[in-house]
Formats: sequence, structure tokens, C-alpha cells
Amino acid sequence: MIRSQIMGCGAFLPRTILTNAELAKRVDTSDDWIRERTGIRQRHIVAKGEKTSDLALHAARGALTQAGIGVDELDLVIVATTTPDETFPATATTLQARLGMTRGAAFDVQAVCSGFIYGMAVADSFIKTGQAKTVLLVGAESMSRLLDWSDRATCVLFGDGAGAVVLQAKQGKGNSSDRGVLNTKLYSDGRLHDLLYVDGGPSSTQTTGHLRMQGKEVFRHAVTNISAAIVASVEEAGAAITDIDWFVPHQANQRILDGTARKLGIPTDRVVSTVALHGNTSAASVPLALATAVADGRIKQGQLVLLEAMGGGFTWGASLIRW
Ligand code: UT7
Repeated sequence: MIRSQIMGCGAFLPRTILTNAELAKRVDTSDDWIRERTGIRQRHIVAKGEKTSDLALHAARGALTQAGIGVDELDLVIVATTTPDETFPATATTLQARLGMTRGAAFDVQAVCSGFIYGMAVADSFIKTGQAKTVLLVGAESMSRLLDWSDRATCVLFGDGAGAVVLQAKQGKGNSSDRGVLNTKLYSDGRLHDLLYVDGGPSSTQTTGHLRMQGKEVFRHAVTNISAAIVASVEEAGAAITDIDWFVPHQANQRILDGTARKLGIPTDRVVSTVALHGNTSAASVPLALATAVADGRIKQGQLVLLEAMGGGFTWGASLIRW
């Protein structure tokens, strides 16, 4: 059986840091409130003229270098983003050109904060069906461009960044001892649109719009949906929650991470958390956390790693990987 193995990870955060104290000068908030309710201490913000494809390029190069794989080996580039450089073309084709890749295919995936998990499912399917051998998957976002900076309920939560992985087809036995992606579970419920959306777009307002969220309701659904996706993924692999070495969640809010861990009985020292340092970077958050835990040596070969996310749509999902 063909398995999609992650060969390398990359991450990039723009240079400018916006602290909670600085935000408190712009809107009626405080460092204490943001830390206590979200766990966020700071976020990185793109500079004037800096685009999502710039962040994606840095993260992609990092992943290719760690993998020891050249651009000429790539068959497919997938960028998960909700903040593309332009309405079209896809940011993935911009990235393809900037990497100097002149073959294969490139496209974007739009599932907001779940984009990286959706991208993982697409990449794994292309590899398993033999349509691609080597895939670059990037989550990249300039969420600061979508924020209403006068809305304290949302502007304190989000940040900019990018993370990337290179996946490659490898032969496996077809059981859960194989290295690589063991499964990916995807879900959505479009009826929940109004809880989290952007109030603009080409076919509605002809503007980019701003992010709107009913935070409390999103929070409530997040713990339930994420827990269900984790259980489904683990059960399908014939594994147990206690078999998972590392949980790498979407970095939205430390309280969501803690609530999910508590609900499923996951020890908190098994949860990778980077939300304090960059806030919610939407589709970039899972690969940013993953790259951190790989770089600092926490995630080791042979371990079971569970990725999960939930975002606008609603969309949510989980992916189980043997490292
Ligand atoms: O990727 C998925 C995307 N989104 C999420 O995962 C977000 C999910 N939701 C959350 O993280 C939380 O709901 C928030 C962090 C957004 C809000 O936390 P909360 O504990 O649900 O607070 P709340 O919305 O119930 O607000 C409590 C109070 C309100 O004041 P009153 O009505 O009690 O007087 C808010 O107006 O806190 C106020 N508030 C703030 N105060 C200081 C809301 N935002 C702020 C703020 N600073 N930035």
C-alpha cells in the first residue's frame, strides 16, 4: 500500500510582533484579559507590501531543505489559505512560479482554519491514487488583512504566518505500524455559516470584507466537533487515545486546547501549543505547531501524531500520522 510520508517541515512568521499591550492602546482590552481568555501573548503581522505568498515561500523553502528534496521533484503544490494574494489566480500558482517549478500542478484549498487538514486529505489522496509522488502542502495566512481592528472581540485573536510540509509516496504494509498518513477525517456543516464568516467577497459585495464571529458559539462547537473528529480518526486506525504520542491542534485558543484535552483525557504534556506566540493563524497554525515540535525534537520517528482543526464553514477534521 502506498503511504504519504512527511519528509520535512518548514515554518515562517513575519518579523513584526504586535503584543497584547500594544493592542490595548488601540482597543478597549488588556493583556490580562487576552492571556486569561485565550492564552495569546503576541501575534506576528505582515509588513506593508508583504503578501501571503511571501510567507508561503519561506515556509516552503524550509520544508524542502529539511526534506532534502529539490523543486524539480515536486508534482503538486497545494496552498491552504483564506487570505490569497489576489482573488485569482491561486496563491499556489504564484508560489509555484516563485519556487522556480515549471511542471506539475498547483491549486489552493479553502477551508479556513481547517485548510491544512483538508489539504492533507487532498495531498494524501493524490499520492495514494498515484497521481503525484511528491507534494508540497503549505498553510499560509495574512489574517491581519481581514480583521476589523475596531472589534476587540476578534482583532486580538488572529495573526499571520505560514507552515509547510513535503509529502512523498513510500511503500507501506497497509497497517497502522506504517510510517505516513494513516487516515484523514473531514467534516463540514454549512448551516453554521453565520457563526464565523467574512462579510465580503467578489460575488457579494465586491470588497474583501472583515471577519465576523460569535466567539462563544464557535467555542462551544469547537470542543465537541474536534473531540468527535479525533475519536473517529483514532477508531478508524484501530488505535486508542492513549496510543497518541503528540496532539498537534489548530492553535485558536488555549482554552479550546485545554477543554478538548480534558474531554478526551489527553495529558496536557502531550499537546503541542504555540498559540501564545502567534495567536490564531488559521490554516497556518497546525503546520506552524508541527514544525516547532519536530524542530525541537519532541516528535520522533515512529511516534503517532494527531493533527486536528476547526474553522469557518463550519469545517473541521483530524489526521493521524505515524512519524
Ligand atoms: O479557528 C476557529 C476560530 N475561532 C475560535 O476558535 C474562537 C472561539 N472563541 C473564543 O476563543 C472565545 O469565545 C473568545 C476568546 C472569542 C471570547 O472569550 P469568552 O470567554 O467567550 O468571552 P465572551 O465573548 O463571553 O465575552 C466576555 C466579556 C464580554 O463583556 P460583557 O458582555 O461580559 O460585559 C465581552 O464584551 O468580555 C468582553 N470582551 C473583551 N474584553 C476585553 C470581548 N472581547 C474582549 C477583549 N478585551 N478583547
